[in-house]
Amino acid sequence: MRIGVPKEIKVQEYRVGAQPAGVREFVRAGHEVLVETGAGGGSGFRDDDFAQAGATIVGDAADAWSADMVIKVKEPIASEYSYFRKDLILYTYLHLAAVPELTKALLESQVKGVAYETITDGSGGLPLLRPMSEIAGRMSVQVGAASLQKEHGGKGILLGGVPGTRRGRVTIIGGGVVGTAAARIAIGMGAHVTVLDLSADRMTYLEDIFGNLIETLHSNPENIEESVRRSDLVVGGVLIPGGAAPKLVSRKLISEMEPGSVVADVAVDQGGCIETCRPTTHDDPTYEVDGVVHYCVANMPGAVPRTSTYALTNATLRYALDLAREGVEVCARQNTNLANGINTYAGACTVAGVAEAHGLDFTPLDRLL
Ligand SMILES: NC(=O)c1ccc[n+]([C@@H]2O[C@H](COP(=O)([O-])OP(=O)(O)OC[C@H]3O[C@@H](n4cnc5c(N)ncnc54)[C@H](O)[C@@H]3O)[C@@H](O)[C@H]2O)c1
Repeated sequence: MRIGVPKEIKVQEYRVGAQPAGVREFVRAGHEVLVETGAGGGSGFRDDDFAQAGATIVGDAADAWSADMVIKVKEPIASEYSYFRKDLILYTYLHLAAVPELTKALLESQVKGVAYETITDGSGGLPLLRPMSEIAGRMSVQVGAASLQKEHGGKGILLGGVPGTRRGRVTIIGGGVVGTAAARIAIGMGAHVTVLDLSADRMTYLEDIFGNLIETLHSNPENIEESVRRSDLVVGGVLIPGGAAPKLVSRKLISEMEPGSVVADVAVDQGGCIETCRPTTHDDPTYEVDGVVHYCVANMPGAVPRTSTYALTNATLRYALDLAREGVEVCARQNTNLANGINTYAGACTVAGVAEAHGLDFTPLDRLL
């Protein structure tokens, strides 16, 4: 199969859909890989790195898009829709429920749209969202610690403290992938860490792996209020699958925090779990409400494209190899988890949530295969 890797053209997107090691695997499996010149630049890969791995470097986007399967990172933007054509396999994050015009373009051109974010694993997890949550969770404490510095508007404390001073207090709401990664870094920095979750299993797991280095608390208004009020840094990491994040920290509670405290609401991409949260960008990542510094960047992994590209492509490669070897139809019949990733097929919308979001007919994939 011919596999295309175009350069990402969405503003501030520096990741790339494949890394040289992945190209090597495709080539070893007998496929041809067309990488658009400069595609890896933002992630630190030169054209030469791809060429040495066996890729053909192509001069413009249209050449990369002429392949049988295109591997990307972000959903295509309007100027890329003209590359869509019947039976093209498009393997990327699509987030179609949020982009009606892209959904329409994929359906009209009968692209086989395979979305990273809906591929599942055997235990109901989302393996291609997980690496980005791992990154955002780790970053939330890194940026939170920096925001606590005086010159960034913070109260001027060091999260880990030093002998003879109190340690910083970190509250993490939601102990899933983001929350666990945040806890790992906060513990590593020497902070006092409290994680609130609704799931007893999740809290048991966290205590098993972190022992006495964290405190877990059932997530209820009383525990949230008490914990947030005395925190230096609050990380928001809740997720209600398929739904908006519940507002667990009220504006009133924010006003009761010490001035110069910091909140990093990672769940901002689902509306945020802190009432005062609104999405920000890496250009202007923070703002202040009632003296509390808010960091609410909706695409946190974008700041570390090199790590993000490795983490993402490590996770996407195995499905890409299956798709390239077997094609969409055989993969979908053999692997339910991969079938769950197929959002558009033969002009039909095959994910109920996307169909519902846009008032389209939903067609179960197995009816089309
Ligand atoms: N901003 C970014 O760049 C970025 C990057 C990656 C992920 N995210 C977002 O971060 C959020 C968390 O992702 P995740 O992968 O950790 O999800 P996850 O499913 O692994 O974890 C979510 C956790 O929230 C818990 N939870 C649900 N309701 C709760 C409540 N009322 N109180 C406390 N805990 C509750 C769940 O039990 C679960 O443990 C998602 O919205 C995700 O989209 C944002």
